[in-house]
Amino acid sequence: MPTIADIFANPPLDETVDIAGWLRSRRDAASFSFLAINDGSCLANLQVIADCGLANYADEIKKLGTGCSLAVRGRLQQSPAQGQAVEVVADSVTPVGWADAASYPLQKKRHSLEFLREICHLRPRANTLAAVARTRSRLAFAIHSFLQERGFVQIQTPVITTSDCEGAGEMFQIAAQADGRHFFGKAAGLTVSGQLQAEAYALALGKVYTFGPTFRAENSNTSRHLAEFWMIEPEMAFCDLGGDMAMATALLQYVIGDAFEHSAADLTFFDSFIDKGLLVKLRAIAEQDFVHFTYDEAVARLQAAPVKFAQAPRWGIDLQSEHERWLAEELCKAPVIVTDYPAAIKPFYMRLADDGRTVAAMDILVPGIGEIIGGSQREERLSVLEERMRAAGMNLDEYQWYIDLRRFGSVPHAGFGLGFERLVQLVTGMANIRDVIAFPRAPGLAPC
Ligand code: 4AD
Ligand code: MG
Repeated sequence: MPTIADIFANPPLDETVDIAGWLRSRRDAASFSFLAINDGSCLANLQVIADCGLANYADEIKKLGTGCSLAVRGRLQQSPAQGQAVEVVADSVTPVGWADAASYPLQKKRHSLEFLREICHLRPRANTLAAVARTRSRLAFAIHSFLQERGFVQIQTPVITTSDCEGAGEMFQIAAQADGRHFFGKAAGLTVSGQLQAEAYALALGKVYTFGPTFRAENSNTSRHLAEFWMIEPEMAFCDLGGDMAMATALLQYVIGDAFEHSAADLTFFDSFIDKGLLVKLRAIAEQDFVHFTYDEAVARLQAAPVKFAQAPRWGIDLQSEHERWLAEELCKAPVIVTDYPAAIKPFYMRLADDGRTVAAMDILVPGIGEIIGGSQREERLSVLEERMRAAGMNLDEYQWYIDLRRFGSVPHAGFGLGFERLVQLVTGMANIRDVIAFPRAPGLAPC
Protein backbone atom coordinates (compact mmCIF):
# COMPACT_ATOMS: atom_id res chain seq x y z
CA MET A 1 0.00 0.00 0.00
CA PRO A 2 1.49 3.40 -0.93
CA THR A 3 1.77 6.17 1.63
CA ILE A 4 0.12 9.50 0.96
CA ALA A 5 3.62 10.94 0.47
CA ASP A 6 4.24 8.32 -2.25
CA ILE A 7 0.98 9.25 -3.95
CA PHE A 8 1.77 12.98 -3.95
CA ALA A 9 5.32 12.37 -5.16
CA ASN A 10 4.25 10.17 -8.03
CA PRO A 11 0.47 10.32 -8.56
CA PRO A 12 -0.94 7.19 -10.27
CA LEU A 13 -3.68 9.19 -11.99
CA ASP A 14 -6.87 7.32 -12.96
CA GLU A 15 -5.68 4.21 -11.17
CA THR A 16 -7.21 2.54 -8.13
CA VAL A 17 -5.31 3.24 -4.93
CA ASP A 18 -5.58 1.94 -1.37
CA ILE A 19 -4.76 4.25 1.51
CA ALA A 20 -5.15 4.05 5.26
CA GLY A 21 -4.82 6.76 7.86
CA TRP A 22 -6.61 8.98 10.34
CA LEU A 23 -9.42 11.37 9.57
CA ARG A 24 -8.50 15.00 10.11
CA SER A 25 -11.88 16.41 9.12
CA ARG A 26 -15.16 15.60 7.39
CA ARG A 27 -17.12 18.18 5.46
CA ASP A 28 -20.54 17.29 4.05
CA ALA A 29 -22.02 18.58 0.79
CA ALA A 30 -25.49 17.84 -0.53
CA SER A 31 -24.82 14.38 -1.89
CA PHE A 32 -21.29 13.50 -0.78
CA SER A 33 -18.67 14.16 1.91
CA PHE A 34 -15.08 15.39 1.76
CA LEU A 35 -12.76 13.39 4.00
CA ALA A 36 -9.30 14.81 4.77
CA ILE A 37 -7.00 11.91 5.58
CA ASN A 38 -3.50 11.99 7.03
CA ASP A 39 -1.25 8.96 7.39
CA GLY A 40 1.76 10.68 8.95
CA SER A 41 3.97 10.21 5.89
CA CYS A 42 3.84 13.92 5.09
CA LEU A 43 2.19 17.11 6.23
CA ALA A 44 -0.48 17.27 3.56
CA ASN A 45 -3.80 15.46 3.85
CA LEU A 46 -5.27 13.49 0.99
CA GLN A 47 -8.80 14.51 0.09
CA VAL A 48 -11.28 11.68 -0.42
CA ILE A 49 -14.72 12.15 -1.93
CA ALA A 50 -17.28 9.74 -0.47
CA ASP A 51 -20.52 9.71 -2.43
CA CYS A 52 -23.90 9.17 -0.77
CA GLY A 53 -24.34 6.14 -3.02
CA LEU A 54 -21.80 4.18 -0.99
CA ALA A 55 -23.54 1.39 0.95
CA ASN A 56 -22.33 2.56 4.41
CA TYR A 57 -22.70 6.29 3.71
CA ALA A 58 -25.51 7.08 6.14
CA ASP A 59 -24.66 4.48 8.79
CA GLU A 60 -20.91 4.93 9.01
CA ILE A 61 -19.29 7.55 6.78
CA LYS A 62 -21.56 10.32 8.06
CA LYS A 63 -20.57 9.36 11.60
CA LEU A 64 -16.80 9.52 11.04
CA GLY A 65 -15.14 12.24 13.07
CA THR A 66 -11.66 13.64 13.63
CA GLY A 67 -9.31 10.95 14.90
CA CYS A 68 -11.09 7.89 13.45
CA SER A 69 -8.86 5.53 11.51
CA LEU A 70 -10.06 4.30 8.15
CA ALA A 71 -9.11 2.48 4.97
CA VAL A 72 -10.10 3.79 1.58
CA ARG A 73 -10.05 2.30 -1.89
CA GLY A 74 -10.79 4.55 -4.82
CA ARG A 75 -9.68 6.17 -8.04
CA LEU A 76 -7.08 8.91 -7.99
CA GLN A 77 -7.98 11.90 -10.10
CA GLN A 78 -6.83 15.42 -10.71
CA SER A 79 -8.67 17.71 -8.36
CA PRO A 80 -10.77 20.37 -10.01
CA ALA A 81 -10.75 22.50 -6.87
CA GLN A 82 -8.05 24.71 -5.37
CA GLY A 83 -6.02 23.43 -2.46
CA GLN A 84 -4.91 20.04 -3.68
CA ALA A 85 -3.55 18.60 -6.94
CA VAL A 86 -5.16 15.18 -6.64
CA GLU A 87 -8.02 13.55 -4.79
CA VAL A 88 -9.51 10.09 -4.42
CA VAL A 89 -13.06 9.25 -5.49
CA ALA A 90 -13.90 6.45 -3.08
CA ASP A 91 -15.21 3.04 -4.09
CA SER A 92 -15.18 2.04 -0.46
CA VAL A 93 -14.54 3.71 2.88
CA THR A 94 -14.01 1.30 5.76
CA PRO A 95 -13.85 2.58 9.35
CA VAL A 96 -11.08 0.76 11.21
CA GLY A 97 -11.12 2.37 14.66
CA TRP A 98 -13.65 4.85 15.98
CA ALA A 99 -12.77 7.91 18.07
CA ASP A 100 -15.52 9.37 20.19
CA ALA A 101 -15.84 13.01 19.14
CA ALA A 102 -16.89 14.15 22.61
CA SER A 103 -13.80 12.79 24.34
CA TYR A 104 -11.07 12.84 21.61
CA PRO A 105 -8.76 15.66 22.72
CA LEU A 106 -7.57 16.75 19.29
CA GLN A 107 -9.82 18.87 17.12
CA LYS A 108 -9.33 20.29 13.67
CA LYS A 109 -8.20 23.63 15.11
CA ARG A 110 -4.63 24.41 16.15
CA HIS A 111 -3.77 23.43 19.70
CA SER A 112 -1.14 25.12 21.83
CA LEU A 113 2.15 23.31 22.31
CA GLU A 114 1.57 23.51 26.08
CA PHE A 115 -1.71 21.64 25.71
CA LEU A 116 -0.15 19.06 23.42
CA ARG A 117 2.62 18.45 25.98
CA GLU A 118 -0.06 17.14 28.33
CA ILE A 119 -1.06 14.44 25.85
CA CYS A 120 2.31 13.18 24.64
CA HIS A 121 0.76 9.91 23.45
CA LEU A 122 -1.63 11.69 21.05
CA ARG A 123 0.43 14.72 20.05
CA PRO A 124 2.25 13.03 17.14
CA ARG A 125 -1.15 13.27 15.41
CA ALA A 126 -0.80 17.06 15.41
CA ASN A 127 0.93 18.53 12.34
CA THR A 128 3.74 20.22 14.25
CA LEU A 129 4.74 17.20 16.31
CA ALA A 130 4.54 14.88 13.32
CA ALA A 131 6.76 17.25 11.34
CA VAL A 132 9.24 17.31 14.23
CA ALA A 133 9.27 13.50 14.38
CA ARG A 134 9.96 13.18 10.66
CA THR A 135 12.67 15.86 10.72
CA ARG A 136 14.28 14.29 13.80
CA SER A 137 14.38 10.89 12.13
CA ARG A 138 15.98 12.29 8.99
CA LEU A 139 18.54 14.24 11.06
CA ALA A 140 19.58 11.03 12.83
CA PHE A 141 19.99 9.34 9.47
CA ALA A 142 22.04 12.26 8.12
CA ILE A 143 24.35 12.16 11.15
CA HIS A 144 25.02 8.47 10.62
CA SER A 145 25.58 9.08 6.89
CA PHE A 146 28.05 11.91 7.50
CA LEU A 147 30.10 9.93 9.98
CA GLN A 148 29.94 6.60 8.16
CA GLU A 149 30.98 8.27 4.88
CA ARG A 150 34.07 9.54 6.70
CA GLY A 151 35.03 6.14 8.08
CA PHE A 152 33.74 6.50 11.64
CA VAL A 153 32.80 3.26 13.39
CA GLN A 154 29.68 3.43 15.54
CA ILE A 155 30.06 1.94 19.00
CA GLN A 156 27.41 1.42 21.66
CA THR A 157 28.69 2.57 25.02
CA PRO A 158 27.01 1.46 28.25
CA VAL A 159 23.98 3.19 29.70
CA ILE A 160 24.91 1.87 33.14
CA THR A 161 28.33 2.98 34.28
CA THR A 162 30.48 3.59 37.34
CA SER A 163 32.43 6.44 35.69
CA ASP A 164 31.23 10.04 36.03
CA CYS A 165 32.67 11.51 32.84
CA GLU A 166 31.78 15.13 33.43
CA GLY A 167 32.49 15.06 37.16
CA ALA A 168 29.62 17.42 37.80
CA GLY A 169 27.81 15.13 40.22
CA GLU A 170 24.82 14.87 37.92
CA MET A 171 24.72 11.07 37.61
CA PHE A 172 21.40 9.39 38.37
CA GLN A 173 22.23 6.72 40.94
CA ILE A 174 21.07 3.13 40.77
CA ALA A 175 19.58 2.16 44.11
CA ALA A 176 21.09 -0.70 46.13
CA GLN A 177 19.22 -4.03 46.02
CA ALA A 178 16.67 -4.96 48.70
CA ASP A 179 19.44 -6.71 50.67
CA GLY A 180 21.45 -3.49 50.71
CA ARG A 181 24.02 -4.70 48.23
CA HIS A 182 25.08 -2.91 45.07
CA PHE A 183 24.15 -5.08 42.12
CA PHE A 184 27.36 -4.08 40.33
CA GLY A 185 29.57 -4.44 43.39
CA LYS A 186 29.85 -0.68 43.77
CA ALA A 187 27.72 2.38 43.25
CA ALA A 188 26.67 2.73 39.61
CA GLY A 189 24.50 5.15 37.73
CA LEU A 190 23.18 6.19 34.35
CA THR A 191 25.76 7.60 31.98
CA VAL A 192 26.21 11.35 31.57
CA SER A 193 28.36 10.77 28.48
CA GLY A 194 29.83 7.85 26.53
CA GLN A 195 33.04 9.74 25.93
CA LEU A 196 35.44 7.91 28.23
CA GLN A 197 34.48 4.54 26.76
CA ALA A 198 34.53 6.01 23.25
CA GLU A 199 38.12 7.11 23.86
CA ALA A 200 39.09 3.47 24.49
CA TYR A 201 37.73 2.51 21.09
CA ALA A 202 39.16 5.54 19.28
CA LEU A 203 42.59 4.45 20.52
CA ALA A 204 42.06 1.17 18.69
CA LEU A 205 39.85 1.96 15.71
CA GLY A 206 40.88 5.52 14.95
CA LYS A 207 37.56 7.24 14.40
CA VAL A 208 34.47 6.18 16.35
CA TYR A 209 31.20 7.66 17.48
CA THR A 210 28.37 6.98 19.86
CA PHE A 211 24.73 7.98 19.40
CA GLY A 212 22.87 7.16 22.54
CA PRO A 213 20.72 8.22 25.44
CA THR A 214 22.38 10.35 28.08
CA PHE A 215 21.11 11.22 31.54
CA ARG A 216 21.68 14.19 33.78
CA ALA A 217 20.12 14.71 37.17
CA GLU A 218 20.47 18.47 36.93
CA ASN A 219 17.63 20.45 38.35
CA SER A 220 17.22 22.70 35.30
CA ASN A 221 13.71 23.53 34.19
CA THR A 222 14.70 25.34 31.03
CA SER A 223 13.71 25.21 27.38
CA ARG A 224 17.10 23.68 26.56
CA HIS A 225 17.62 21.00 29.23
CA LEU A 226 16.29 17.48 29.58
CA ALA A 227 17.05 14.85 32.20
CA GLU A 228 17.24 12.29 29.37
CA PHE A 229 18.59 13.40 26.01
CA TRP A 230 20.45 11.90 23.08
CA MET A 231 24.03 12.74 22.29
CA ILE A 232 26.30 12.07 19.33
CA GLU A 233 29.92 11.77 20.43
CA PRO A 234 32.57 11.41 17.74
CA GLU A 235 36.07 10.64 19.01
CA MET A 236 39.17 10.80 16.80
CA ALA A 237 42.69 9.51 17.38
CA PHE A 238 45.60 11.56 16.01
CA CYS A 239 43.44 14.67 16.10
CA ASP A 240 43.92 18.05 17.75
CA LEU A 241 41.51 20.82 18.68
CA GLY A 242 41.66 22.34 15.18
CA GLY A 243 40.66 19.04 13.62
CA ASP A 244 37.89 18.68 16.18
CA MET A 245 36.48 22.14 15.37
CA ALA A 246 36.61 21.43 11.63
CA MET A 247 34.80 18.10 12.00
CA ALA A 248 32.08 19.57 14.22
CA THR A 249 31.52 22.45 11.82
CA ALA A 250 31.33 20.13 8.83
CA LEU A 251 28.84 17.86 10.61
CA LEU A 252 26.48 20.72 11.48
CA GLN A 253 26.64 22.16 7.98
CA TYR A 254 26.13 18.76 6.37
CA VAL A 255 23.02 17.85 8.35
CA ILE A 256 21.41 21.24 7.72
CA GLY A 257 22.10 20.83 4.00
CA ASP A 258 20.56 17.37 4.15
CA ALA A 259 17.45 18.77 5.86
CA PHE A 260 16.99 21.31 3.06
CA GLU A 261 17.10 18.47 0.60
CA HIS A 262 15.08 15.79 2.39
CA SER A 263 12.83 17.60 4.87
CA ALA A 264 11.90 20.53 2.63
CA ALA A 265 8.12 20.49 3.15
CA ASP A 266 8.44 20.19 6.91
CA LEU A 267 11.05 22.98 7.05
CA THR A 268 8.76 25.25 5.04
CA PHE A 269 5.99 24.48 7.51
CA PHE A 270 8.24 25.39 10.45
CA ASP A 271 9.27 28.58 8.67
CA SER A 272 5.62 29.58 8.22
CA PHE A 273 4.11 28.52 11.53
CA ILE A 274 6.84 28.11 14.13
CA ASP A 275 9.81 30.39 13.46
CA LYS A 276 9.51 32.98 10.70
CA GLY A 277 12.89 33.42 9.04
CA LEU A 278 14.03 29.91 9.92
CA LEU A 279 15.04 29.00 6.38
CA VAL A 280 17.17 32.12 5.94
CA LYS A 281 18.83 31.48 9.31
CA LEU A 282 19.57 27.83 8.49
CA ARG A 283 20.87 28.67 5.03
CA ALA A 284 23.29 31.12 6.61
CA ILE A 285 24.54 28.56 9.13
CA ALA A 286 25.04 25.99 6.38
CA GLU A 287 27.02 28.39 4.22
CA GLN A 288 28.83 30.96 6.37
CA ASP A 289 32.08 30.44 8.25
CA PHE A 290 31.75 30.02 11.98
CA VAL A 291 33.35 32.77 14.06
CA HIS A 292 36.17 31.69 16.38
CA PHE A 293 36.96 33.39 19.68
CA THR A 294 39.19 32.20 22.46
CA TYR A 295 37.51 32.37 25.84
CA ASP A 296 39.72 35.39 26.64
CA GLU A 297 38.41 37.19 23.55
CA ALA A 298 34.82 36.16 24.26
CA VAL A 299 34.98 37.55 27.81
CA ALA A 300 36.51 40.79 26.54
CA ARG A 301 33.70 41.14 23.96
CA LEU A 302 31.07 40.42 26.58
CA GLN A 303 32.55 42.96 28.98
CA ALA A 304 32.46 45.57 26.23
CA ALA A 305 28.86 44.68 25.29
CA PRO A 306 26.33 47.51 25.39
CA VAL A 307 23.89 45.35 27.38
CA LYS A 308 23.44 44.52 31.01
CA PHE A 309 23.65 40.81 31.73
CA ALA A 310 21.99 39.25 34.77
CA GLN A 311 25.40 37.78 35.56
CA ALA A 312 28.32 40.09 34.77
CA PRO A 313 30.87 38.35 32.52
CA ARG A 314 34.16 37.84 34.29
CA TRP A 315 37.26 35.77 33.46
CA GLY A 316 37.11 32.47 35.33
CA ILE A 317 33.36 31.91 35.41
CA ASP A 318 31.62 29.72 32.86
CA LEU A 319 29.76 31.50 30.08
CA GLN A 320 26.08 31.75 30.97
CA SER A 321 23.38 31.03 28.46
CA GLU A 322 22.63 34.78 28.13
CA HIS A 323 26.32 35.34 27.26
CA GLU A 324 26.39 32.52 24.74
CA ARG A 325 23.28 33.75 23.03
CA TRP A 326 24.46 37.36 22.89
CA LEU A 327 27.71 36.28 21.22
CA ALA A 328 25.96 34.18 18.58
CA GLU A 329 22.72 36.13 18.09
CA GLU A 330 23.68 39.74 18.57
CA LEU A 331 27.41 40.17 18.11
CA CYS A 332 28.18 37.67 15.35
CA LYS A 333 24.76 36.68 13.95
CA ALA A 334 26.47 33.36 13.21
CA PRO A 335 27.63 30.25 15.03
CA VAL A 336 30.56 30.99 17.31
CA ILE A 337 33.23 28.55 18.45
CA VAL A 338 34.74 29.49 21.80
CA THR A 339 37.98 27.70 22.68
CA ASP A 340 40.56 27.58 25.44
CA TYR A 341 38.44 27.86 28.57
CA PRO A 342 39.95 28.25 32.04
CA ALA A 343 41.15 24.87 33.28
CA ALA A 344 39.35 25.29 36.60
CA ILE A 345 35.84 25.27 35.09
CA LYS A 346 36.26 22.31 32.74
CA PRO A 347 36.48 18.54 33.34
CA PHE A 348 39.68 16.65 34.09
CA TYR A 349 40.09 15.03 30.67
CA MET A 350 40.70 18.20 28.65
CA ARG A 351 44.26 18.90 27.51
CA LEU A 352 46.08 21.44 29.66
CA ALA A 353 47.86 24.34 27.95
CA ASP A 354 51.58 24.78 28.61
CA ASP A 355 50.97 27.74 30.90
CA GLY A 356 48.48 25.68 32.93
CA ARG A 357 45.85 28.42 32.67
CA THR A 358 43.47 27.02 30.06
CA VAL A 359 42.44 23.73 28.47
CA ALA A 360 41.92 22.82 24.79
CA ALA A 361 38.13 22.96 25.04
CA MET A 362 35.66 24.13 22.45
CA ASP A 363 31.98 24.96 22.65
CA ILE A 364 29.90 25.76 19.58
CA LEU A 365 27.20 28.35 20.22
CA VAL A 366 24.36 28.90 17.77
CA PRO A 367 21.76 31.67 17.51
CA GLY A 368 18.52 30.92 19.35
CA ILE A 369 19.98 28.11 21.44
CA GLY A 370 23.44 28.85 22.77
CA GLU A 371 25.68 25.80 23.31
CA ILE A 372 24.90 22.99 20.91
CA ILE A 373 28.27 21.21 20.92
CA GLY A 374 30.87 20.77 23.64
CA GLY A 375 34.19 19.13 22.90
CA SER A 376 37.91 19.15 23.50
CA GLN A 377 41.31 17.76 22.74
CA ARG A 378 41.95 15.16 25.43
CA GLU A 379 44.86 15.07 27.85
CA GLU A 380 47.06 12.34 26.38
CA ARG A 381 50.04 12.79 28.77
CA LEU A 382 49.95 10.25 31.59
CA SER A 383 51.44 12.37 34.36
CA VAL A 384 49.47 15.50 33.50
CA LEU A 385 46.23 13.52 33.40
CA GLU A 386 46.91 11.89 36.76
CA GLU A 387 47.70 15.26 38.27
CA ARG A 388 44.47 16.76 36.93
CA MET A 389 42.46 13.82 38.26
CA ARG A 390 43.98 14.16 41.69
CA ALA A 391 43.28 17.88 41.67
CA ALA A 392 39.65 17.10 40.80
CA GLY A 393 39.45 14.84 43.86
CA MET A 394 38.94 11.68 41.82
CA ASN A 395 39.82 8.20 43.02
CA LEU A 396 42.48 7.13 40.53
CA ASP A 397 42.08 3.46 41.41
CA GLU A 398 38.60 3.50 39.92
CA TYR A 399 39.81 5.02 36.68
CA GLN A 400 42.84 2.79 36.06
CA TRP A 401 41.21 1.51 32.89
CA TYR A 402 41.05 5.09 31.56
CA ILE A 403 44.58 5.89 32.70
CA ASP A 404 45.81 2.75 30.90
CA LEU A 405 44.87 4.41 27.63
CA ARG A 406 47.70 6.89 28.32
CA ARG A 407 50.05 4.17 29.52
CA PHE A 408 49.83 2.03 26.40
CA GLY A 409 50.17 3.68 23.01
CA SER A 410 48.73 7.04 23.94
CA VAL A 411 48.11 9.49 21.08
CA PRO A 412 46.76 13.02 20.77
CA HIS A 413 43.01 12.67 20.34
CA ALA A 414 39.91 14.80 20.40
CA GLY A 415 36.16 14.60 20.20
CA PHE A 416 32.93 16.38 20.89
CA GLY A 417 29.34 15.86 21.98
CA LEU A 418 26.44 17.16 19.91
CA GLY A 419 23.17 17.44 21.82
CA PHE A 420 20.69 15.82 19.46
CA GLU A 421 17.59 17.58 20.81
CA ARG A 422 19.31 20.96 20.58
CA LEU A 423 20.12 20.16 16.95
CA VAL A 424 16.47 19.28 16.32
CA GLN A 425 15.50 22.59 17.96
CA LEU A 426 17.91 24.46 15.71
CA VAL A 427 16.61 22.85 12.53
CA THR A 428 12.89 23.02 13.35
CA GLY A 429 12.89 26.36 15.18
CA MET A 430 10.99 24.77 18.08
CA ALA A 431 11.46 26.95 21.16
CA ASN A 432 11.05 24.28 23.83
CA ILE A 433 13.25 21.18 23.96
CA ARG A 434 10.30 19.21 25.38
CA ASP A 435 8.63 19.44 21.98
CA VAL A 436 11.45 17.81 20.01
CA ILE A 437 11.63 14.49 21.89
CA ALA A 438 8.70 12.09 21.98
CA PHE A 439 8.37 11.61 25.72
CA PRO A 440 10.41 14.29 27.52
CA ARG A 441 11.94 13.69 30.93
CA ALA A 442 12.61 16.66 33.19
CA PRO A 443 12.40 17.32 36.94
CA GLY A 444 8.97 16.05 38.05
CA LEU A 445 8.13 14.87 34.55
CA ALA A 446 7.94 11.19 33.57
CA PRO A 447 4.24 10.39 33.24
CA CYS A 448 4.59 7.23 31.19
O1 4AD B 1 29.10 19.86 26.99
P1 4AD B 1 28.71 18.47 27.41
O2 4AD B 1 28.40 18.24 28.83
O3 4AD B 1 29.93 17.57 26.91
C1 4AD B 1 30.08 16.24 27.18
O4 4AD B 1 29.29 15.53 27.72
C2 4AD B 1 31.35 15.69 26.57
N1 4AD B 1 31.65 14.42 27.24
C3 4AD B 1 31.18 15.54 25.09
C4 4AD B 1 32.39 15.01 24.40
O5 4AD B 1 33.39 15.71 24.30
N2 4AD B 1 32.32 13.78 23.89
O6 4AD B 1 27.46 17.99 26.54
C5 4AD B 1 27.53 17.99 25.13
C6 4AD B 1 26.27 18.55 24.54
C7 4AD B 1 25.97 20.00 24.91
O7 4AD B 1 26.68 20.90 24.09
C8 4AD B 1 24.47 20.08 24.69
O8 4AD B 1 24.18 20.25 23.31
C9 4AD B 1 24.02 18.69 25.10
O9 4AD B 1 25.13 17.84 25.02
N3 4AD B 1 23.48 18.69 26.46
C10 4AD B 1 22.17 18.64 26.77
N4 4AD B 1 21.08 18.58 25.98
C11 4AD B 1 19.88 18.53 26.59
N5 4AD B 1 19.69 18.51 27.92
C12 4AD B 1 20.77 18.56 28.76
N6 4AD B 1 20.59 18.52 30.08
C13 4AD B 1 22.07 18.63 28.18
N7 4AD B 1 23.33 18.67 28.68
C14 4AD B 1 24.16 18.71 27.62
MG1 MG C 1 29.16 21.76 27.73
